Amino acid sequence: MIVRRENDRLLVDAPAKVNLHLEVLGKRPDGYHELETLMVTVSLYDTLTIKPVPEGTVLSCSDPNLAMGTDNLVTRAVELARREGGCDQGLSVELTKRIPAAAGLAGGSSDAAATLAGLSLLWDLNWSRDRMAELGAQLGSDVPFFFHAPAAIAKGRGERLTPVLLGTRLHLVLVCPDEGLSTARIFADLNPPTEPKSIRPIVEALEDGQLSRLGALLFNRLEEVAVRHSPAVRELAQEAPNWDCAGSVMSGSGSAYLALCSSYEQAETLRQQLVSKKSVSVFVVKSSH
Ligand code: C5P
Repeated sequence: MIVRRENDRLLVDAPAKVNLHLEVLGKRPDGYHELETLMVTVSLYDTLTIKPVPEGTVLSCSDPNLAMGTDNLVTRAVELARREGGCDQGLSVELTKRIPAAAGLAGGSSDAAATLAGLSLLWDLNWSRDRMAELGAQLGSDVPFFFHAPAAIAKGRGERLTPVLLGTRLHLVLVCPDEGLSTARIFADLNPPTEPKSIRPIVEALEDGQLSRLGALLFNRLEEVAVRHSPAVRELAQEAPNWDCAGSVMSGSGSAYLALCSSYEQAETLRQQLVSKKSVSVFVVKSSH
């Protein structure tokens, strides 16, 4: 995430993430699933504007459909930061939403991570990256990753992170159906595989910057479930092999689909072909550095 100071305000850009590999190793006694996934942050951002106000907590969002109530991850991150930081100063947080919700791009989790990072700075809490990742894990499985961007392997629920080098800049097209998917419902409908797919080959391809190999190795165990739940994902999974790109796969628990391209120009050409599709938003993005 990127934090900027502007007079009395902090502006925090919260990136989306994509999963290049996602395998489910088994179901855990706590109801969550044991994961092994390779994630990368990309250049599609929500922005948080954080500033002190005389009293209270004022939260607002550019998307009128997104309630900023007690379930919202930004609201929960503010409450957690107040409790852990022992800070009761008045606060205003404005959230400008650009990352589609329920798309498997972790927009809400990234907003929560950005809130913790912004408040640590605003309130001089001096929290380390590891401390914020630990706090973030209380808010959601994807939150800790954003303190280990731009690329990492996540294991466990998502909180055991190992950084990965990006051997090359990735150019991607994100295709996001209007209809999102519920992460809980997708996981609930999954039978973990008896022979999990190894993450090693794709990590090596990413670190070595071997684009065509990376494209061929893209994998998401949750895609077979999402295809059953969503006609839009089913359609994308059927069409994607015909796209001119190095490879394609669904991100996270869906419903967004990603195409890995060999250049910005290839990504932009594909975007122009896909943008006329009904009921989808299409973005050209690159991996963060
Ligand atoms: O942690 P988070 O609240 O983002 O997870 C949303 C839902 O996704 C959980 O309630 C759970 O059903 C599912 N999940 C899972 N295993 C994980 C992460 C999420 O089963 N490792």
